[in-house]
Amino acid sequence: MKHTDIREILTADKYVGKEVTVCGWVRTARDSKNVAFLALNDGTSLNHLQIVIDKQALNDVSPEAMKLGASVKVTGEVVNNERNNTNEINAKEITVLGKCPADYPLQKKFQKLETLREMPHIRVRTNTFNAVFRVRSVIAAAIHRFFQEKGYVYINTPLITASDCEGAGEMFQVTTIGYSDKYDNADDYYRDDFFGKKAALSVSGQLEGEVAAMGLGKIYTFGPSFRAENSNTQRHVAEFWHIEPEVAFAELDDVIELAEEMIKYIIRDYIEKCPEELKFFEERFEKGLTEKLMSVINSDFEIVDYTDAIELLKKADVKFEFPVEWGCDLQSEHERYITEQVYNKPVFLINYPKAIKSFYMKQNPDGKTVAATDLLVPGVGEIIGGSEREADYDKLLAAMKEREMSTEGYEFYLDLRKFGSVPHGGFGLGFERIIMYCTGMANIRDVILYPRTVGNIK
Ligand code: 4AD
Repeated sequence: MKHTDIREILTADKYVGKEVTVCGWVRTARDSKNVAFLALNDGTSLNHLQIVIDKQALNDVSPEAMKLGASVKVTGEVVNNERNNTNEINAKEITVLGKCPADYPLQKKFQKLETLREMPHIRVRTNTFNAVFRVRSVIAAAIHRFFQEKGYVYINTPLITASDCEGAGEMFQVTTIGYSDKYDNADDYYRDDFFGKKAALSVSGQLEGEVAAMGLGKIYTFGPSFRAENSNTQRHVAEFWHIEPEVAFAELDDVIELAEEMIKYIIRDYIEKCPEELKFFEERFEKGLTEKLMSVINSDFEIVDYTDAIELLKKADVKFEFPVEWGCDLQSEHERYITEQVYNKPVFLINYPKAIKSFYMKQNPDGKTVAATDLLVPGVGEIIGGSEREADYDKLLAAMKEREMSTEGYEFYLDLRKFGSVPHGGFGLGFERIIMYCTGMANIRDVILYPRTVGNIK
């Protein structure tokens, strides 16, 4: 269907005086005796295009074109409205493409985010979700560009796997055998299943990412990861998009440097490419968002040792719900205290106790901690988890034994330490978490098209 994007018409002088055809959905309609107005949006801009209908000249417009949510095609002349210096169209012909009955759910100008969550197929027609998804797209492109410019190879790791990367047992099983009382034990059941063994959706592409990095040197992945964790929070979904670079010949410092450089690149690109969206989020969702993002670009992130963070938390003049002791896993309230109250900027926490971290992390010489890092940011908490990897075969095997892990399914992973092992590391960035940080959206369910959470698969 030949037509011009509304974004173009609104911004370019070259259309003034020309006849164009636009398509879109009716966002508002106003009717009076001699003239009627439609505000039309085709998704290409947060701003609507005003269609002016001179009823004397155009008297056969269908009443269906004046209904909220109807889709129409309009041909007419572009004129500049001097009052607000925007382009609008004097309609010559209006065709209704799709009628929209009165039970269209977006009748009110502003709807609660909770209400919109109940209709993911409709909420994309609001300005909020238009802005969210445009920013998602711009940031995804920025991430690819960042890694491509630095010579990283984009790798697609398998989504179906026989190994649990994080060892947390939070995996969704993949099976073609439904409910069955045919089997006496699990082994017989898995043997009969599609892969002949237990399979699951991957929680992370890291292990295979390491395989690729051991041949290609520098790689990154950008794909979905799945977590069957039963945490009904504002920051967790069961299916999220995960960016995981993996670098050979790298130590923890290099991993941290890469992560900081990437975050700053993403934010700089976002500020440059999405000024309208940023203004929208600033006005509607987070006062001071622009200033916050500018200060991220212009400041050095803090690096804090886990042990020092525990001391800070113990001294804090705050009553935490969860008690703090060396060795404890930090809760969201602790992370937020450190990044929001103490430093008010992004903080890399490093050197966590080995008992609370994954088997693959490089063991530090103190015998108690691992060379791990989480990046915590104000408002969202953890957005990145990463580490230097254990490159020593014996130490890795010992760490697996300590956790009572079977080596079955991890032979390839151990092989990497057998054949020309090198210091290496990487991290995982939660895509939805960085979108939350950049937009000020407080709930992860509002930055992904179809949020998958416990008990919800709409
Ligand atoms: O800290 P995580 O579990 O680390 C890993 O998966 C490593 N294998 C990454 C690596 O080193 N290659 O997860 C990494 C990030 C988290 O910091 C968070 O941003 C995001 O993934 N994430 C989630 N995002 C949304 N919903 C969930 N349930 C998430 N779980 C993790």
